[in-house]
Amino acid sequence: MAPLAVRLVRILALLGETVNAVHITNSSSSSATVHWLGTKPEVNLGATFGLPWPRGKFFPEYTAFSASDSRGQNLDLQSWATGYWPDGSLKWTGHAIPASHAVSEAYTIKATSRPSSSSRSRNSSSGIIVSETPQQVKVNTGQISVSFPKSGDIVIGGIETAAGKTVGKNGRLVLQSQDAVFDSPDVRGETPVSYFNFQSRISNVTVSDLTSVRTLVTVRGTHSPADGSASHSDWLPFVLRFYLYANSSAIKLVHSLVFDGNATTDFVTGIGVRLDIPLEGEEQYNRHVRIAGVNGGLLNEAVQGITGLRRDPGSAVRTAQVEGKELPDISTWDTRVSSRTQWIPTWADYGLSQLSPDGFTLRKRTKAGQSWLNIPGGTRAEGLAYLGGATVGGLAVGLRDFWKRYPTGLDISNASSNTGTITLWLYSPLAQPLDLRPYHNGLGEDGYADQLDALEITYEDYEPGFDTPYGIARTSEISFYAFDKTPSRETLSLLTGYLNNPPVLVTSPEHIKESGALGTYWDLPDNSSEAARTIESHLDLLAKFYQGQVEQRRWYGFLDYGDFMHTYDADRHTWRYDVGGYAWDNSELSPDLFFWLYFLRTGREDVYRFAEAMTRHTGEVDVYHIGDWKGLGTRHGVQHWSDSAKQARISQPQYRKYFYYLSGGDERVGELLEELLDTDKTYGVLDPNRKVRTDGWTPTPGSTVAMGLGTDWSALAAGWLIDWERRTPRWHESRTKLTNTMSGIANLTNGFVTGSGLYNLSSWTLGPPPADPTNRGTVSVSHLSAVFGLVEVVSELIDWFGDSDLPPGFKDAWLDYCYYFNAGKAEQKARYGVDFGNLNLYQGHSRLTAYVGRARRNETLQRRAWSEFYGTDGLKPSAPWNVTRVSGKGQVLLGEVDEASWFATNDVAQYGLAAVEDLAFVGGLLGSL
Ligand SMILES: *[C@@H]1O[C@H](CO)[C@@H](O)[C@H](O)[C@H]1NC(C)=O
Ligand SMILES: *[C@@H]1O[C@H](CO)[C@@H](O)[C@H](O)[C@H]1NC(C)=O
Ligand SMILES: *[C@@H]1O[C@H](CO)[C@@H](O)[C@H](O)[C@H]1NC(C)=O
Ligand SMILES: *[C@@H]1O[C@H](CO)[C@@H](O)[C@H](O)[C@H]1NC(C)=O
Ligand SMILES: *[C@@H]1O[C@H](CO)[C@@H](O)[C@H](O)[C@H]1NC(C)=O
Ligand SMILES: *[C@@H]1O[C@H](CO)[C@@H](O)[C@H](O)[C@H]1NC(C)=O
Repeated sequence: MAPLAVRLVRILALLGETVNAVHITNSSSSSATVHWLGTKPEVNLGATFGLPWPRGKFFPEYTAFSASDSRGQNLDLQSWATGYWPDGSLKWTGHAIPASHAVSEAYTIKATSRPSSSSRSRNSSSGIIVSETPQQVKVNTGQISVSFPKSGDIVIGGIETAAGKTVGKNGRLVLQSQDAVFDSPDVRGETPVSYFNFQSRISNVTVSDLTSVRTLVTVRGTHSPADGSASHSDWLPFVLRFYLYANSSAIKLVHSLVFDGNATTDFVTGIGVRLDIPLEGEEQYNRHVRIAGVNGGLLNEAVQGITGLRRDPGSAVRTAQVEGKELPDISTWDTRVSSRTQWIPTWADYGLSQLSPDGFTLRKRTKAGQSWLNIPGGTRAEGLAYLGGATVGGLAVGLRDFWKRYPTGLDISNASSNTGTITLWLYSPLAQPLDLRPYHNGLGEDGYADQLDALEITYEDYEPGFDTPYGIARTSEISFYAFDKTPSRETLSLLTGYLNNPPVLVTSPEHIKESGALGTYWDLPDNSSEAARTIESHLDLLAKFYQGQVEQRRWYGFLDYGDFMHTYDADRHTWRYDVGGYAWDNSELSPDLFFWLYFLRTGREDVYRFAEAMTRHTGEVDVYHIGDWKGLGTRHGVQHWSDSAKQARISQPQYRKYFYYLSGGDERVGELLEELLDTDKTYGVLDPNRKVRTDGWTPTPGSTVAMGLGTDWSALAAGWLIDWERRTPRWHESRTKLTNTMSGIANLTNGFVTGSGLYNLSSWTLGPPPADPTNRGTVSVSHLSAVFGLVEVVSELIDWFGDSDLPPGFKDAWLDYCYYFNAGKAEQKARYGVDFGNLNLYQGHSRLTAYVGRARRNETLQRRAWSEFYGTDGLKPSAPWNVTRVSGKGQVLLGEVDEASWFATNDVAQYGLAAVEDLAFVGGLLGSL
């Protein structure tokens, strides 16, 4: 029996009361350490991270957190709850530390139970000052003061340094589009095309509740015609999240857009962020342009160069300019130069274009109306540009993963006038327009019979009108760095590295594991037996292979980066990027889960970065964020949105959960999780099984809807559980939906084996499926049901409720499903009257057997799990387990690549999950098989 105080908290939590009123009797403390992922950064511009805590230990109103560095020095800390256990105790916390010159190897966060009377810890010696008026929010970090207007088209009013210099102002979004594209260059001039320019229009600005160490300013709005006309409606809604840390002169912006245009008439040609840079009073020869090149290299120029001239102003003058320092007074120069500066051109405009992941071009010109001059370009620009002066200061702007998100660009303009500008292009206007039209015309597929037949050949599930990008989103990470004077090249190189590999603080795999806060279905790497070591080496091979394929196959691009492909074409030595349902993976069979679990167990930086890019892609581009299908994702296909199967299994919130909590509650991902709370309603407008349904059921909004207990319910359940954990304003609703549907499944005669049920959109209850209204018991088992998060979500649910609070019968229903899926037809028939038919993905399902084997402490079953893992389908021990290098000369491929044509991504994801979970559940038996 839990102590009284804890029980009281649990009861109050169940009643939905706040837990403030309860006093926790046990006073204790405990700490967790976070370290930098990979190598320690040279500078810390402020960081946010998440920490897990064991159930029942710390309650929010009675817990204080403090931080110290490796030398035991205390530092400021901002702490908040991101997740709770069912008893109201803290499950996950988010923390922010301020910027600091000295960077510690690690930081220790201490949690202390404290009496309710003590005030919130606000030890903000170096705190941020936030002031808010009806017109604007102003944030002063100690290093910079930034204003955010609450209306109009300017999203950053001004950036002022502590020395009082305004180094950036009038920050705004720019967008360009056109209403048609030339299908060939030959028809230019024949096709009438209208062009549109837009800028940001703010609808709402909010500032975070907590602001002492890290302040978040959120700006929402749309892109509106720049000339104020009604030539085009406002569109492309945006959310800008500006993060500012105490003591830091950097601003991090998480920039999110939703596409709400018409793919056949709205072609985006440029997406940018633009700021003005005040340069008034700065001599032209003291104005500097820096643009990041490759591996820390920079284009290092002055607007008016005094090097390389026929006459030499003197080496001190030349050196100062190259170093970006104020030049000695002009009276000290060689007069043959100082008398003739008016004849030296000034270069006002610079442009870098990264139109492919392999190369960028650079150009400059003296001013508009004059010719551009080519500057040598390079391969992969690192995405940062600085404009400023030696005395007036300046601003650097950068985009993370700049070249990986091609076509991108950086423009500097008007650098010779009183106000220069920097434009960062998330989509370069010099590229071809963003063409989101369907890639084929329907091929005459009339009706479901044709569409199902076509699925037989290209594996594409097509339906007219469903291949729409309406509602997809993209999120980008941008940074601004303010300077009182032109910074050194070393500083800019350092910041360029920082931008692209933002330092991440994480706790150890051991600590996450012990807390139980990200499930109990994974464990640390197992090197205890030869067999386990072999599995570990296979997991490593698979993880590295996908990282390498991203590079070799150039899986980069504005929308594509973060995804990878589904199946290989060994004949062409290429992934099937053009063959229907074999192209982009769109989370098919849960690679997101595999790569995140692989990170949790290993703590490896390469795996984290890979999984993070995937989460930023799959949660945004593969999912609809507005419209009737809001909350659904799109099945794998040639375009991320082209397949007509719109499914909750693709938008599965569980795929975002790991990053969400580890990142300290990334607010964009938090928003995505909240968007998914209404996914259940989509079953009232769109039946995922519409093409194959035989029971005559059709969806009606707001009524009772049919849903699968596997791919559908697992996604909804994950979302409801996360919401309950997070205690968002809707968490009572989520809790009711979750417990009701769990009871409903338990109540079905055949439990999960029933396959589907009818869910009531008003009462949130779940009953028997349309084909079995009286619950006599039907059998409908799909190989797909358990491979989109069901196993992981149900495992978390069983832990979450605990045996005493679980809806009666739920665990048995799950254990039965786990037991029978791989039990063979005879046992299935004996139990259910019929067998499950011919299934596949047996290897992946060995983790269900392992789960039930562990739950029932039955060694026979546990051994059965390993025999399924090794001896059914999937990736067998006898597979090659190697990667072959294919070289280009005389080959059918473009260049040298690695291939492993013995698997598809489905196999990898399910092998990976089975390996991780079988090792966790029944790994102890491996040495004695
Ligand atoms: C108080 O917390 C400590 C540390 O977690 C634990 O060892 C102890 O059992 C707890 N005592 C009670 C009465 O719960
Ligand atoms: C701005 O957003 C906040 C939070 O979403 C909301 O509470 C507020 O009503 C909004 N204000 C306006 C003017 O829309
Ligand atoms: C997109 O525009 C075309 C051309 O005006 C129109 O025929 C089509 O119905 C529009 N599509 C949508 C989804 O509104
Ligand atoms: C369980 O099923 C019975 C009828 O079979 C029904 O009366 C009852 O409401 C159901 N309970 C739940 C929680 O769905
Ligand atoms: C373990 O599971 C096997 C296979 O279902 C079964 O035959 C056996 O009776 C179980 N053993 C125990 C101790 O329950
Ligand atoms: C890969 O493994 C296969 C099968 O074991 C073997 O025949 C082949 O030579 C190996 N290839 C390489 C490149 O190691």
